[in-house]
Amino acid sequence: MKKIILALDVYDFNKAEKLVKETVTYVDVYKVGPMLFLRCGGRIMRTIKDNGKEIFLDLKFHDIPAIVKLSVESAKELGVFSLTVHSVGGKDMLVAATSVKNRPKIWAVTVLTSQVSSEEEVIKMAKLARDCGVDGVISSPLEIALIRKECGEEFNVVTPGIRLKKVDDDQKRVATPEIAIKEGADFIIIGRPILNTVNPVETLKNIYDKIG
Ligand code: C5P
Repeated sequence: MKKIILALDVYDFNKAEKLVKETVTYVDVYKVGPMLFLRCGGRIMRTIKDNGKEIFLDLKFHDIPAIVKLSVESAKELGVFSLTVHSVGGKDMLVAATSVKNRPKIWAVTVLTSQVSSEEEVIKMAKLARDCGVDGVISSPLEIALIRKECGEEFNVVTPGIRLKKVDDDQKRVATPEIAIKEGADFIIIGRPILNTVNPVETLKNIYDKIG
């Protein structure tokens, strides 16, 4: 499976549909977050599937265990490939989420890449998630090697905070796509460094060619 997850962080169905159609060669998994989901979730998810691609539903569940379990059940009915929960929801919430049978992959946010954090905190959250049966974590590219060492090779490491050059924005713990892949990321999530360029498809192709 291709390693780039394209974050469809646009709020217009037509823009999202155009992006999917133009990028199918380079992307197998598209990320649908709250902004797009609330506006046209059903339509865009159908479009992604009609193009033979997978959906990463990034709604970052963080609620009481019973509600998170029902939310995972609902996401399963939508046929998504993966979804996110916040590891700070705690053990009971994570166990409830992973107890759903034949469910999508569950990836837990350790600490948001927009927040400054310590390695100890990230590893603590990653191990908690792993021990509760979660399939992997969303974490900064700077922590990939450490998570691999502490949590094992089978545990997915999925990294946002991908930047092509130094920019001053809300992502604090960042790296380039090449470094993230070299460090061992299973997937890299990229949004603005592609979406905010004059030619998003060309930018994506360049990244794809570099990471192989
Ligand atoms: O635009 P940018 O490349 O920063 O987008 C990163 C994407 O990854 C956003 O859609 C954001 O919601 C998502 N994400 C993140 N940090 C997490 C989990 C998801 O930045 N911990």
